Amino acid sequence: MCRGAEECDKFWVRVSQDQVYNFASIVSGILVLNASTCRFVVLISGRGSNMQTIVDTLQQHNAPGQVCAVISNNADARGLEWAAQKGIVTQVVSHRDYESREQFDLALGDAVHAFRPDYILLAGFMRILTPAFVERFNGRLINIHPSLLPAFPGLHTHQQALAAGVQWHGCTVHFVTPVLDHGPIIAQGIVPVRADDTSDVLAGRVLNLEHRMYGDVALWLSEGRVTLDSVQRVHVDGMVSRSYLLTPSGVKRSAN
Ligand code: GRF
Repeated sequence: MCRGAEECDKFWVRVSQDQVYNFASIVSGILVLNASTCRFVVLISGRGSNMQTIVDTLQQHNAPGQVCAVISNNADARGLEWAAQKGIVTQVVSHRDYESREQFDLALGDAVHAFRPDYILLAGFMRILTPAFVERFNGRLINIHPSLLPAFPGLHTHQQALAAGVQWHGCTVHFVTPVLDHGPIIAQGIVPVRADDTSDVLAGRVLNLEHRMYGDVALWLSEGRVTLDSVQRVHVDGMVSRSYLLTPSGVKRSAN
């Protein structure tokens, strides 16, 4: 027996079999956890309150998923500071540095791809994405829009809702397609519109709903429960209904 083996034998005598098993199970546990952790990249342009709710919801539920990066097209986006304080990697890819929308989307796509995300969550990301970008991340790109799609796509949705005199307004979480503010709906929620609402008041009411819904959707995605069928309809394992309502006592999800 060589000297090295002798030393090795002494080592194994000192380390009990139980300790070896414990160590092995911790290592394999870490490997399994890492392998099954759903990776999210969140794209923001400003305040980032939806991004915050996604991060907090995943953490609070000990979900098998995490936000591995927050990327913004705007260096002054307030949400970047919050994410950095949470220890999340942040990055800026400014659209101002690129001559065309196509070039910007290529650079943005490369930045996103580098984090190997399972899903890319658009959370107040105020850029229209090219079909090439949408194609690149097809089936993995999710958006929240502050209206009851297909009503009121585009900007100023709360003004549009007030101008149209609708009595119910809301928000939608959906898969992204090349058509603006369009795609298979994952969750949708409603708020009442009051006669004396301003667009800011209405926006605040809708935001309560957005936070609850985007947090829930991030959880479902992390748990691998969200699928698209052959006719592009969304299914969430274990959920018959994904409709929400803002009531005086808070946000309620419809019973299954
Ligand atoms: C949200 O209302 C979102 O639906 C819309 O822009 C707003 C962004 O808010 N697209 P925040 O940056 O998530 O606070």
